[in-house]
Amino acid sequence: MVLQRRRREQTMSDPAPQAVDAVEQTLRPQYLQEYVGQEKIKEHLQIHMAAARKRKEPLGHTLLHGPPGLGKTTLAHVIAREMAAQIRVTSGPALEKPGDIASLLTNLQVGDILFIDEVHRLRPPLEEILYGAMEDGVLDIIIGKGPTARSVRLQLQPFSFIGATTKVGSISAPLRDRFLHVFKLGFYSAGEMESIVERASGILNVPLGAGAARLLAEASRATPRVGNRLIRAVRDFAEVRGVSPVDHSIVRETLRCLEIDRDGLDATDHRVLRTIVESFAGGPVGLSTLAAILAEEEDTLEEVYEPYLLQQGYLQRTPKGRIATPKAYQKVGISLPVPVQSALL
Ligand SMILES: Nc1ncnc2c1ncn2[C@@H]1O[C@H](COP(=O)(O)OP(=O)(O)O)[C@@H](O)[C@H]1O
Ligand SMILES: [Mg+2]
Repeated sequence: MVLQRRRREQTMSDPAPQAVDAVEQTLRPQYLQEYVGQEKIKEHLQIHMAAARKRKEPLGHTLLHGPPGLGKTTLAHVIAREMAAQIRVTSGPALEKPGDIASLLTNLQVGDILFIDEVHRLRPPLEEILYGAMEDGVLDIIIGKGPTARSVRLQLQPFSFIGATTKVGSISAPLRDRFLHVFKLGFYSAGEMESIVERASGILNVPLGAGAARLLAEASRATPRVGNRLIRAVRDFAEVRGVSPVDHSIVRETLRCLEIDRDGLDATDHRVLRTIVESFAGGPVGLSTLAAILAEEEDTLEEVYEPYLLQQGYLQRTPKGRIATPKAYQKVGISLPVPVQSALL
């Protein structure tokens, strides 16, 4: 029997992308200087971009990876702007036939950036076309069929390929090896999140009272996309309640309505932790079992929910599966089981 999974409902604190709307666009940093955090990456990029500009060469193929909502797409656009390059945007699942990628490549002009989001979902025959394009700047195409078929090699304009993925482990080794720069985006610190929240509140003209930015930052899962969404939600509550600047009670009311706790955990996070603690005595439990019980996609659990729970120390990943930590027990309000040894005494 096929297990029918319910369609994933997008929750407020879910950092996975929805369609980017106009407001979201205005919140996107345009230049590296406005791009908060990721200091190491910015430092490296500054050098590589300056060197490339000096040599009048493209930046070099770049892979950006990390959990959703941390700024991969934003960074790809920032790079294009800083390099004064034209950017062509597509995604792995959007490319179906070899011809799709061939026409993208042959239309690139000198110095252009080709950005492929969700690059781990590129189909293997399409990925193979990229190998030659990335390594030698050529495109091999087959003309004709059967015994008269012949291969023609086209020279491409020098370009930079930027790939983004939430699942770097799913990228094949030959593709990964062809990237010159590989940057892993990490979660943002509380201070960085506060800057992001303050920046968004300035752009959207939502004055924040003392401590409100900090509360919002702490509830943002260390993820800029979530911070932006919270500011937008808080703006609505503040407007309807006629409160300005936004105070603690408005922030708390917003978070309560959205079922987000003060540490940024939402209803699904709580279900994940509660299931491991209550149904599996703290684990270990395998991802597929957990996904089936929670009626969530495995990929969603692994790419969207787990990274933050792991980073915050609620979960641990072991070869046998996921384990709930003492912090998880505390979060769900259940006391740790008495260790077997002491129970025997
Ligand atoms: N470093 C940053 N500084 C400020 N805002 C950011 C930063 N990174 C991301 N954002 C904001 O978060 C939103 C989501 O980022 P995005 O680049 O779409 O994430 P990803 O592609 O990694 O899923 C952006 O629209 C942007 O407004
Ligand atoms: Mg993106």
